[in-house]
Amino acid sequence: MTTTVLTVSGLTKRFRVAERGRARWLTAVDGIDLAVTAGRTLALVGESGSGKSTVARCVARLVEPDAGEVRLGDRSVSAMSRARLRAAYGEIQLVFQDPNSALNPRLTVGAALDEPLRLHTGAAAPERRARIDELLADVRLDPHLIDRYPRQLSGGQRQRVVIARALAVRPTFLLLDEPTASLDVSVRRQVLALLRRLQREHGLGYLLISHDLAAVRQLGDEIAVMYLGRIVERGLAAEVLDRPTHPYTRALLSAAPVAEYGRTRTRFRLRGEIPSAVDLPRGCRLVGRCPLAEPSCDDGYPPTVALSATHTVDCPITAGAPSSPKVTLAP
Ligand SMILES: Nc1ncnc2c1ncn2[C@@H]1O[C@H](COP(=O)(O)OP(=O)(O)OP(=O)(O)O)[C@@H](O)[C@H]1O
Ligand SMILES: [Mg+2]
Repeated sequence: MTTTVLTVSGLTKRFRVAERGRARWLTAVDGIDLAVTAGRTLALVGESGSGKSTVARCVARLVEPDAGEVRLGDRSVSAMSRARLRAAYGEIQLVFQDPNSALNPRLTVGAALDEPLRLHTGAAAPERRARIDELLADVRLDPHLIDRYPRQLSGGQRQRVVIARALAVRPTFLLLDEPTASLDVSVRRQVLALLRRLQREHGLGYLLISHDLAAVRQLGDEIAVMYLGRIVERGLAAEVLDRPTHPYTRALLSAAPVAEYGRTRTRFRLRGEIPSAVDLPRGCRLVGRCPLAEPSCDDGYPPTVALSATHTVDCPITAGAPSSPKVTLAP
């Protein structure tokens, strides 16, 4: 039986921005649905500016979404009061890109790990100390590092401390926003292997946000591809990596170094750069950049087409589906 640890439905977030002195609305996330299962990783990928971190920040309620719902297990995070939310943080834990800003420079490793235990468990000092030793062992950090300060640690060690702290209160789910982006390649591999092992041992669900296709291949069980606030393709990792279908997914995968993607293939290029999320096109978001665009792509947001029971794509042209009449299939 699979247990859903995180469900996101209809999530929408707009920001008010000033453009040439005028107030405009930027749509960072535009009605997306996601589900993360216990023991599995959903990888959310997409170019810079596609809205990935805004999803993460809405899930953690660091920003308030404009619409949609976030559920943790069977409880609605969206409906929780601030106080209840703080308690729920035992279950939602975040690991961000930069372990330097995630750790208080004035706290030793031991103090950093003690903080969530004091806040969330009510355990006495000796019990917390035992848990800290257990956490250090769990992330394979030398117990002697307990009295060190973040500046006395390597980048990889710091990220292990951040991960240990996230695990302190036995979460069901980790939100990983570019967890390896600041690390060297060799350290990156170790941290990914660590995350994989911890996931297996503790049955954790992961929402992994990453630019790094190697990370996505190593951890991702499912992949959701995001572009300008929408999920344009999703499926099991093998389906999306082996049969990338949306022009955006094809471009994203073909832009990766061959060593990472591990196969030869023809390059698939888009024109230009990701446009501003202010005044999005009415139809397919990729329309101005896509070499396969047809006039119908301007007509409205394209329907979601199912390629298998688990693989869907918002592009009837590349899905080989008849473009008319349009058949809308549930994601
Ligand atoms: N607080 C904010 N105010 C205004 N605009 C914002 C704010 N936060 C994000 N945005 C905009 O929302 C869009 C999505 O940003 P977001 O940080 O979610 O992208 P991302 O996919 O995480 O990118 P990256 O890969 O660079 O981290 C961008 O256009 C960004 O400029
Ligand atoms: Mg981001």
